[in-house]
Amino acid sequence: MANRMKDKVVVVTGAASGMGLGIANALAGEGAAIVIADLNEEAATAAAEKLQGSGQRAIGVRANVSVRDDVRAVVERAVQEFGRIDVWFNNAGFNVPMQFLDVTEDNWRSIMEVNALGVLIGTQEAAKQFIAQGGGGKIINTTSMAGREGFPAFAPYSAAKSAVISLTQSAAKALAEHDVTVNAFAPGVVQTPLWVKLDADLVDIGEVEKGTSAMDEFASGIIRGRTAKVDDIVGTALYLASSDSDYLTAQVIMIDGGMVLV
Ligand SMILES: NC(=O)c1ccc[n+]([C@@H]2O[C@H](COP(=O)([O-])OP(=O)(O)OC[C@H]3O[C@@H](n4cnc5c(N)ncnc54)[C@H](O)[C@@H]3O)[C@@H](O)[C@H]2O)c1
Repeated sequence: MANRMKDKVVVVTGAASGMGLGIANALAGEGAAIVIADLNEEAATAAAEKLQGSGQRAIGVRANVSVRDDVRAVVERAVQEFGRIDVWFNNAGFNVPMQFLDVTEDNWRSIMEVNALGVLIGTQEAAKQFIAQGGGGKIINTTSMAGREGFPAFAPYSAAKSAVISLTQSAAKALAEHDVTVNAFAPGVVQTPLWVKLDADLVDIGEVEKGTSAMDEFASGIIRGRTAKVDDIVGTALYLASSDSDYLTAQVIMIDGGMVLV
């Protein structure tokens, strides 16, 4: 199994934590050189140093995915260090839940900016580099089951993740002539720092009763009968990054244990 990503250069945004970190570690284990791009510079550097410590090629770069100059700088650092980019994961994201009638313009804009605009900018800047290299390349977006179904306390987040699905299709059509594929995966409830915070936030806004857990409530509707661990997701990410998925484009793989059926 090892070495499925040998000599490939992979950028993962939001890779200092949670799923991005799990994906970065798994792909490094398969031989890829990894660029960990994250708002949290300290955590990004620490994650890269850990990989370097076990003999793998990795760098950490601070970047806000919704700021084009930051994203361009990630491309430049990746090319400077490793010569090219083969795979780009638009994975960074966050959510601040609010009851539907309370959603503010600031809440909407900040969530759309990172989760949706960040994916547009990441896709454009990665694609420009792929084209400059002579074509080929894979873009993989992290959307969500919330992009397939709206949730009352997640309106901006669901809208942003729907936008990611739409961008995946538009970009796949736009970039096909350059032999670039664009796909997405849609997790359900994954045990990461994002969900730990979300669980607490949902109690704060009265969406979930104190003393109970939204994660547990959601879990009861999952066909597989439990929420996911990061390890449940990385195999799908690896498939999308590897040559096994070369004929796949414009697709969204639901990896949510069968929670939302589409
Ligand atoms: N955890 C879940 O249940 C779940 C389910 C479906 C989709 N997702 C999506 O998966 C992705 C990863 O989430 P996670 O659960 O691993 O969360 P996480 O909070 O553990 O990790 C997210 C990382 O993204 C970084 N980040 C946030 N905003 C950024 C920005 N503007 N620029 C660069 N980096 C930024 C954070 O610093 C953090 O390191 C997100 O897009 C999230 O929306 C998560």
